[in-house]
Amino acid sequence: MTIANFQNGRRLLLGITGGIAAYKAAELARLLIQDSIEVQTVMTESACHFVGPTTLQALTGKPVYTQLWDDSINNSMAHIDLSRMADIILVAPASADFIAKIAHGLADDLLSTLCLARNCPLMVAPAMNRQMLENPATQRNLTTLQKDNIAILGPAHGIQACGESGMGRMLEPHELVEAVQNFFQPKSLQGKRVLITAGPTFEAIDAVRGIINLSSGKMGHAIAQAALEAGAEVTLISGPVCLTYPAVKKLIPVTSANDMLAAVKNEVSFNDIFISVAAVADYRPAISHTQKIKKSDNNLALELVPNPDILQYVANLPNRPFCVGFAAETENIDQNAESKRRKKNLPLLVANLAQEAMGADDSTLLLFDDNGKHALTKAPKIDQARCLIKYIATLYEQHHA
Ligand code: C5P
Repeated sequence: MTIANFQNGRRLLLGITGGIAAYKAAELARLLIQDSIEVQTVMTESACHFVGPTTLQALTGKPVYTQLWDDSINNSMAHIDLSRMADIILVAPASADFIAKIAHGLADDLLSTLCLARNCPLMVAPAMNRQMLENPATQRNLTTLQKDNIAILGPAHGIQACGESGMGRMLEPHELVEAVQNFFQPKSLQGKRVLITAGPTFEAIDAVRGIINLSSGKMGHAIAQAALEAGAEVTLISGPVCLTYPAVKKLIPVTSANDMLAAVKNEVSFNDIFISVAAVADYRPAISHTQKIKKSDNNLALELVPNPDILQYVANLPNRPFCVGFAAETENIDQNAESKRRKKNLPLLVANLAQEAMGADDSTLLLFDDNGKHALTKAPKIDQARCLIKYIATLYEQHHA
């Protein structure tokens, strides 16, 4: 028997090692297949104690390989054949023992041997007891993996099968699928440097109070993630948000519009594309008190002064990057968006309905450019961000053709 060829498209080799999280690998395989990714499973002997190869075979529709010395393979080269037929290898769960093996280049079973013989990227999803993870030996091994450009997905924090609580849980299958999807995104912005502003700005009134808006930063952060996936070098300037930051090249957390402008001024000349997603406060208090303002029975008037328009500043630069603006509108979207695009002289402006989009996980986007209006119907922000990045990459190429 020869190893069945993967069909065309996206091909993943799923390695499963021995750990209680192995039961989640079945769900992982199912989700990957649902996403039209071809899955070939290889299991270590220990993994087979936790979940049966038959389960994985039924889910993936392919024989599951477990032995380096497999008589059924004509050339006895399972380790080479399997690793050559994958676009990526994902080992989930990856036990402490398996991580130690690949950190040291050991190859004493089928999975470790094909990882050593691979010519494609490798991702591992560690899963182990928190003490095993904290052990300096495991930490050293993980550092080695990072240096060897092996992607480490997780682990997460939480209750563990042994009853203890801490770091070491395998990421959930849907999170691992997301990482795989990222890997398969087209690299439409390879070699491009992208500067993104995101989130709200906070304009201090006094030592403890300020003006903020409902922007969650989710769209800007999703765009940063999508730009990263597309191969860009991303600098993210983010106002105050409660989000996990994407793994951008440079992250600059800021508070006020003036802070954001200063950060943009420092960074803009290094970038090819500027995507201004931040909901920058239009006004700030004329005076920001250093001490807390005391309560009284009298009315309190707050004088506001206009903030600088950061996007306008960038769009007016002589050597400006390709500028993309956002507009959160509550009414007359088309008119307001197109007049904003013209006023700020932008090749592309993305509009959404503020009351629908702010803080939500989904959004509907309307894209306005020289060719008119294009709609991206309601979808999760990360999907919208990926579509938008592809669109920006195409427009950017046209502008620089
Ligand atoms: O004019 P409006 O505020 O609606 O324009 C929205 C666009 O301008 C967004 O891209 C936003 O990030 C940007 N903007 C800015 N600085 C401001 C106000 C808005 O960069 N002070």
